This record gives sequence, C-alpha cells and structure tokens, in this order.
Amino acid sequence: MADLVVLLRGGRVVDATGERVADVLVAAGLVRAVGADLDAPAGATVLDAGGCVVAPGLVDLHTHLRQPGREEAETVESGARAAALGGYTAVVAMPNTEPALDSAAAVREVLELGATSTCDVRVAGAITRGRQGKELAPFGEMADLGVRLFTDDGDGVQDARLMRRALEYASSLGVTLAQHCEDKVLAAGGHMHEGEWSSRLGIPGQPAEAEELMVARDIALARLTGGRVHFLHLSTAGSIAAVRAAKVEGLAVTAEAAPHHFSLTDADVAGYGTAFKVNPPLRTAVDVAAVKAGLADGTIDAIATDHAPHAAEHKDVPFDQARPGMLGLETALALALTELELPLHTILALLSWNPARIAGLELAHGGPVAEGRPANLCVFDPAAAWVVDAGALASRSRNTPYAGRTLTGRVRHTVLRGEPVVVDGKAQR
Ligand code: DOR
Repeated sequence: MADLVVLLRGGRVVDATGERVADVLVAAGLVRAVGADLDAPAGATVLDAGGCVVAPGLVDLHTHLRQPGREEAETVESGARAAALGGYTAVVAMPNTEPALDSAAAVREVLELGATSTCDVRVAGAITRGRQGKELAPFGEMADLGVRLFTDDGDGVQDARLMRRALEYASSLGVTLAQHCEDKVLAAGGHMHEGEWSSRLGIPGQPAEAEELMVARDIALARLTGGRVHFLHLSTAGSIAAVRAAKVEGLAVTAEAAPHHFSLTDADVAGYGTAFKVNPPLRTAVDVAAVKAGLADGTIDAIATDHAPHAAEHKDVPFDQARPGMLGLETALALALTELELPLHTILALLSWNPARIAGLELAHGGPVAEGRPANLCVFDPAAAWVVDAGALASRSRNTPYAGRTLTGRVRHTVLRGEPVVVDGKAQR
C-alpha cells in the first residue's frame, strides 16, 4: 500500500476546521496536498468526488464484530467491510464475544484479525472477568495494548461498589469506562419499552427507569471518584437530562446515542418484527425528540451504531425469544443525514472527530484533512437517495429494521491509510 497515490477530485472538504472546495492528494498513507486543481501525478488513481463531501473517516465507538465465538453472525473481516462501506475508518469492537475480551491475550487476537481488514479495528476490554460482574478484569495489561475503553456492554455493572473500584482503577490508568446502563432487576423480563405500546401488544416491557437509575448512579460515582464515564446508547429523555446536568457540573462524562434511537419508536414494534428488538429498547416519540435535542446541544457527544448482527436462527423466532440488536454500520451516516436537522459539520463531529477523541484515536482518525495527516477519509454524496436492501449488505447478518426504507446520503469512497478500500460504493477487498 505504501506506494499508492490517490487523487480525490472535485469534492467539498469538511473537517473540524471548516470547509473548502478542494482536491485531496494522498500518497504513502498520508494526505500530501489539499487545494484547487491539483495535478494527478503519473500513475495516480483519480477518484471522482464531484458533488461529494470529503471528510475525515467516521469512527464507531460501538461495534459488535462477534469474533471469537459467533462467526456465523459476523467476523472481524465482514464487519470491517461493512464499516468501510458505511464510511468508517475505525471501529471499537465490543468485548461481549464468546469468550469475552477480558485479557491481553483475547484483545491481541482481535487486534491481529483486524490488522489486515478494511477498517482500523480497535478493541474495548471488559470491565469484569467474563463480563460476569464479579471481579475486575486486568485493565493494565489491556491498556498496554492500547485499549482505552472498558465496558461490560450487553450488561451494565450492577454492583455499585465494584463499579466504584473499577472507576478508581481506570482513573489510575487514564482510561474510560463505558457503561451499558440497565438495572437488571428492574428490566427483568422486559422485551420492549414499557408503555402504551407494550400494553397494546401484550409484550412485557422494561421501564425507562431501568436505564435512568444506572445513569444517575454512575454520575454519582464519577463525582465520587473523578473517573471518566462514557454512557453507551442513551435512549431516554431522563437519561439525557441527567447527563446534561452532569456536564454543567463539570463531571468527566461523555455520551453516545444510536441511530435507531433517533429514527424509530416503540410504535415500530407493532408488527412484532424482531428486527425492531434492541437493548435499550426503542422508546417513545418524546424520547426520540430528547435524543435529537441532546445531539443538537452537545449533551450527546457521538452517534454510535451499536451494530449488533444476529444470525437468522436468533431472529426468526417469536419476539420474546429473539436476541436484541440490529445492524448499523452501513446505514448510520445516511440515517443521520436523513433524520437529523443539523448542520453537516455537526453531524460529522458526532460521527467522526468527537468519537475519535473519546476512543483516544485522534492522532489517526477524525483530524483535519490537511497535509501530513493520516489519509483516513470518507467521501459521500449527501444528496444521493437509495433504498436499503438487506440482501445487499456486507454484514454476514440481515437484521436491519430499515429494509425497504429510502435514505438520503451515500458513501462513494472510503480511504484507509491511503488505500481506497471502497470505490464507487463497492468494497475493493
Ligand atoms: O441490542 C443489543 N444487542 N444491545 C446490547 O447491549 C448488546 C447487543 C448485542 O451484543 O447483541
């Protein structure tokens, strides 16, 4: 890849510093020039960026790659390909694999699998051994491999005393704990949001308070310990209000929201479609409005996919037996562009440079498109309309709730370390 020369011709460059119409020349993994009417060096691959935005590659804080253990649903390779097609140049792989990523050996295996994939695959380590919520995992040896986020995602850490100790340990290492906020006892038996729709459909629900209690507890623990907490996939108005207040107070908290929590509601469960089953569950229109307001005012720092592939055998079953989770990597950018009435610059902050900072990846991803910077770039047509075809997705799984939906905004090219891994919407390997 080192000798590849690529010229992105005729795009609108948008990054944290602003925007300009410019060509972008990439060679040997770095951006070499940004300017009008650049000459294509001999042998350069010229990619048309006309009508497109050229931006730093997107960064996903929350991707389930399922390897090891659930390779029928996704692998590092297939998930990385889906990520590249979605405009991502980096993803953080969640540790709820089988076995869990709770040691240096387990983390190293995924990093090695990711090293040759079409996306920069980073790893979040588990907070507790085996994600069992009983004893702390060895953060230090995972931090030595570059792990910056720790989470038991899929579950929240239920024991407040253990969470306090985890925060103290994390603080001493300068790493961040990412919490899946769910009080298991209160949520037990719930398969969707508890409210009008769960009553109508006869599906047991889990109340918003199951999320909000843990958000409140962890804000208190962040205050007590000075530790950094990142709140995963916030879905309720109450959670977002609590995080807003914590930020005003100056606590070291950040938050993300998933596209399905600003584009779908619990009413979408009405057909009992298991593609709409997810954790935290789809909430009410009031909650969706709160998520959108949180994204607009900076309470929520990042849009994260919670890409959660599941094989058909776990989704083609009755609603209460289906596993929660939905695909996200290939639709997140388009959902943000279609559903959010936010300036493009804000949408890219939420999808690229803010999550890059939270994951500690800002030197490689999300930085300005400027000479000398790593060439991790996403080129997309913000006006291109397309229909989501579940069968055409690169993921090994098919559990998207957006099949048949028309979205606006489509990735044309993705450049990873100077290599065009997606060209004209097609994965190159
Ligand atoms: O819906 C979900 N699916 N929520 C989670 O927290 C975990 C995820 C999964 O791993 O399938």
